[in-house]
Amino acid sequence: MRIELGAADLEDGELRGYDLGKRAVCVARVKGRYKALDDWCNHAGCLLSGGRVEGNLVVCPCHEVGFDLDTGANATSPGVCDDQPTAQVSVEAGRLMLEVKEGS
Ligand code: FES
Repeated sequence: MRIELGAADLEDGELRGYDLGKRAVCVARVKGRYKALDDWCNHAGCLLSGGRVEGNLVVCPCHEVGFDLDTGANATSPGVCDDQPTAQVSVEAGRLMLEVKEGS
């Protein structure tokens, strides 16, 4: 199932958070491509969408852990926290669509 997040109008290097109730998603645009991770950092719950993009990483604003935007891997601080769950986004007719598993 897919749900519409809004207009796919992010600039390169921009992050945007979407609060979906029981889940929050952080979308990034990198070199024209949209990528997404869960927004609540698995370290201490800060919102990754308040951080910054560095290369292909999103850097958490609270303790600077960098997560790979393709795999969710903790790329900067192994052992500090886990990898971050990823999310699947696509663009359809200028709208940002999030792939959601049934029941999640
Ligand atoms: S809450 Fe994200 S690195 Fe600590």
